[in-house]
Formats: sequence, structure tokens, C-alpha cells
Amino acid sequence: MIENKEFKLEAGKFLEVTGPAAVRVKEGEALLMGKPLETNDLVVVPQWRTYVFKATKKCKFSISLTKETTINVVENNVFDVWTKELERLVGAERVVIAGPTDSGKSSVTATLLNLNLRSGKEVSVIDSDVGQNNLCYPTMVCKTKVRDYVFTLSELEGEEKRFTGTITPAVHTSRVISSVTSLVKGNVVIDTDGWVDGYEAGYYKHSLLRAVEPEVVVYMGKAPWWAKGPWELVELPPSPGKERTREDRRSIRKNRYRKALEKCKSFDIDLREVPAFYSVLFNSPEGDEALKEAVRELIGVKPIMVVTNNKKIIAVVPKRSKYRKVKEVEVLEEGEERGLLVGLGNEKGNEELGMIVKIDYRYRLMKVKSCFEGKPKYVSFGSVKLDEDFTDHVWRKPI
Ligand SMILES: Nc1ncnc2c1ncn2[C@@H]1O[C@H](COP(=O)(O)OP(=O)(O)O)[C@@H](O)[C@H]1O
Ligand SMILES: [Mg+2]
Repeated sequence: MIENKEFKLEAGKFLEVTGPAAVRVKEGEALLMGKPLETNDLVVVPQWRTYVFKATKKCKFSISLTKETTINVVENNVFDVWTKELERLVGAERVVIAGPTDSGKSSVTATLLNLNLRSGKEVSVIDSDVGQNNLCYPTMVCKTKVRDYVFTLSELEGEEKRFTGTITPAVHTSRVISSVTSLVKGNVVIDTDGWVDGYEAGYYKHSLLRAVEPEVVVYMGKAPWWAKGPWELVELPPSPGKERTREDRRSIRKNRYRKALEKCKSFDIDLREVPAFYSVLFNSPEGDEALKEAVRELIGVKPIMVVTNNKKIIAVVPKRSKYRKVKEVEVLEEGEERGLLVGLGNEKGNEELGMIVKIDYRYRLMKVKSCFEGKPKYVSFGSVKLDEDFTDHVWRKPI
């Protein structure tokens, strides 16, 4: 049920609105994430998000709200400190925004972008969060030039895209780093994922920072060791916003995958012509008949395809085969690859998300569902697999 309420604010006070809601400025002037709002401006606050309106003059707001909407009028908000510090960073080349999950990174990113626009500066944004990417889809890193004020990065659409094959940077660290660095040109604000605790996270984040060579790193909270370096480090107070649960995150990812793939067509890619990157199966020496026979002795089923990789043998066997498990051979059942995510790249290195429907290992023909247009120049394999309902899983088998 939707109802309408009016709120009056003295100049200098804040209105915190957690969506879903539609907020209209009826009288006065306000600021929202660096954008000046005037009488009659309308802002939609999405579900999951809190927008903080600062009354720069005495204001009247009219708000359409639902049962889930929450509204608070407060005297203080971190917004003031953020804006003061961020104003100094307008025009800086390469600013990285880091911090824990739900600490306000994406809101600070939007604010810095808006402050740049307000000063007439050209600026782009990179979302390097492979788990909760707002500019494109999970498993991807994307960049977009910012042409208009923005409050939530998901209002934008990625223009340059890279597929990393993972929803957690811990899995393919170097792929995430090389994807981000390939996009770093001109004035950019880089939003990051919330993996900040522990040595491994620090190792990854510090390596990312070194590759990006930022002018400034902004950390939401007290900066850990890895955020330090030759660059300027700015610490901002974290946002008091409510946290999204693991389930919320998973359901957001599900919706994004659906949006990326549901309406796409399926088509064949000939893996004898199109290079398959990050695939051990399609980039290892293939075994001959004698090796297939030897594998049959070991596992009890004759494989369709075998390759050797260092000391391991990878064998593809027909669907529902009853094979013996032995440590020398890793077995992949035909059909198991269904749902595995891949990236399809064009001649500019721009990549589109795709999902494997099936692979015919005999003829090296791969059927993929994707909205990629034209003929892909290459395919990159990943390690995330989707169910029929777009629920994702990390897939650890070699392919
Ligand atoms: N100044 C603020 N005051 C209160 N809540 C805020 C503020 N800025 C952001 N939030 C809310 O805090 C939550 C986390 O913010 P977000 O920018 O998404 O963080 P992150 O990108 O670090 O996960 C969101 O619900 C957001 O709407
Ligand atoms: Mg974020």
C-alpha cells in the first residue's frame, strides 16, 4: 500500500530515507550525494538503500512510501564529513574507494562522481566488485563514463566490460586485477569489493592498488596496512546503513544473472577456431587412443576426450557413466558443464556474459546462451555455475 507524507526540515538538517520511496522537493533546496536538488525535483530511493537529503535551505518534502520505507529526521550524518573531504578530491586522477561491506563505498563513489560533474570535470567509474557489481553483472568488472548525476551505480550501464570468471576475488585474483587495470584510463573513481580482513585480502587489495597506481585511496573506517602506499590516503567515517545479509546478496546476484541472460539467444561456437582462455581442457596436449585405453583400464569407462596437464590426466566421460575414482585421473562428465559462465570477447577486448548450454567434446562445439552480438574473437572460461533458476555456485572442476 502506498501513502503520501510531508516532512518539513530546517536548513542544515538531514532526512534519511530507506527505500522503496519516491521523494519530491516541494519547497526549498537540498543536497543529495553532491547533487543540488531544487523545488519539484523527484528522486526514487530503491529498496535496500538509504539516501540522505541535506536541507541547504528550509525544505518541505513530499514522500510516497510503502510499509518497508523508513524515514528519519536527524541533526547529524556522516554525509557532511564525506562531502567536505571529497570536495578536495575533485579532478584527482584515479581515486580508489575501499572499505568493508556496507561501509558506504558505493555511496561515496556516487558522491565523488557527482561533485566532479558539478565542477564540469569528465569522470568515469569502474566497479571492481565481482560479487555485487552494480554497473554490469556478477563475475564482471565494468567501466562507464558518467554523463549525469548518479545516486546508485546500478542506474548506469557498463560500457567497457571484462569477465573475471569469479564472484569472489580470492579465486582468480590476477584475473580481477588485470581486468581492472585494463580499464584504468583518464579520470576514474574505482569502487571495490568489501573483502578487507585477513592477510590474503590485504595481499590482493594491495596488489590491486599497486597495479592501479591511484592518486588517492579513500578508506571507509580505520585503514589497514594494505591501504597504505605512495598515494594519499584519506580515512572517512563509515556509513551507519543497515547491512545486507548473505541471502540478500545472493538474491541480488540472481536477479542480475536473469537480467543478463534470460532474453538472450543460444548459438554455437567452434572451439577449433575460437581460442578458449582459462580452460585447462582445451589448452592441454590431447591424449591418443593408447592413453584413452590406459584411462579405461584405470576408471573402467572409455573417455571421449583426454588431456594431460602436468602429472594429472583429465578425462571427459559420457553422461551418467559408472566410473571408478582414482587419484591420477580427474573426471568430467559430459553435460556437467551446463550453466557454467563464460565471457565472450570482441576485437576490442570488450566482454559479454555467456552461459554454457552444452559442449560436444568430440567436435569441440560449444553451445552458449549470450547476448553477445556477432562472432566472438575468444571465449574465457570461469568457475561459476548457474542452476536453472539462476542460483550461482562456485565450480571447482577443471574444464
Ligand atoms: N550517509 C549515509 N547515512 C546513512 N546510510 C547510508 C549513508 N550512505 C549510505 N548509506 C546506506 O548504507 C548502506 C551501505 O552503503 P553502500 O554505499 O551500498 O556501501 P558499500 O558499497 O560499502 O557496500 C546502504 O544501504 C546505503 O544506502
Ligand atoms: Mg558497494
